[in-house]
Amino acid sequence: MKKILLALVPVVALTAGVASAKGNAHHADKSHKSETAAEMKLYDRLGGKKAIVAVVDEFVANCAADTRINSFFAATAADKKRLAKFKGNLVNQICEASGGPCKYKGKSMKEAHTGMGVQDEHFNALVEDLVKALDKFKVGEKEKGELLAVLGPMKSDIVTAPAPAAAAESAPMHK
Ligand code: HEM
Repeated sequence: MKKILLALVPVVALTAGVASAKGNAHHADKSHKSETAAEMKLYDRLGGKKAIVAVVDEFVANCAADTRINSFFAATAADKKRLAKFKGNLVNQICEASGGPCKYKGKSMKEAHTGMGVQDEHFNALVEDLVKALDKFKVGEKEKGELLAVLGPMKSDIVTAPAPAAAAESAPMHK
């Protein structure tokens, strides 16, 4: 778990190195081999839309099987149309966020998760399920880190304060 959180930390620093050698016309540039990796969009390095669809399918299946969080997704999983729409939204969101040609047309993260009572532990479990899916498709460490770095900042719009009941328990008693 710690590893995953660490992965959310500045991945930009890792940009140098390992270019997945697709031809690069700008050899005359001042810096050398890091250019290719830097210029290729994360979207392309992830493998484009098809690869993102495959990852999202696996990711959502992982969430549905994860007893730490699957209660959140029970209604979604039980409704084929709703599930398909949810997956489509996730695909477009990841596609757009990674520099791809898609447009996310769903709700804002705040709007989508408001009132759900998503806590830190749920968020971390979901990230773990995403990492599992990325690992299954052998997405590289660098790409994994970059994707998590794009999604990480959404956390503050998704995770909310503990439910009122829990907060009340820790509040001083009335006299
Ligand atoms: C970076 C983390 C997350 C991202 C990028 C994300 C993304 C999304 C997106 C794109 C939607 C669809 C919004 C719409 O319908 O317009 C959504 C809905 C939803 N999210 Fe998240 N989410 C994240 C974390 C979580 C967590 C931690 C939980 C709970 C454990 C959660 C539970 C849900 C549920 C239950 C829905 C409604 C699904 C439905 O439409 O039936 N999400 N999320």
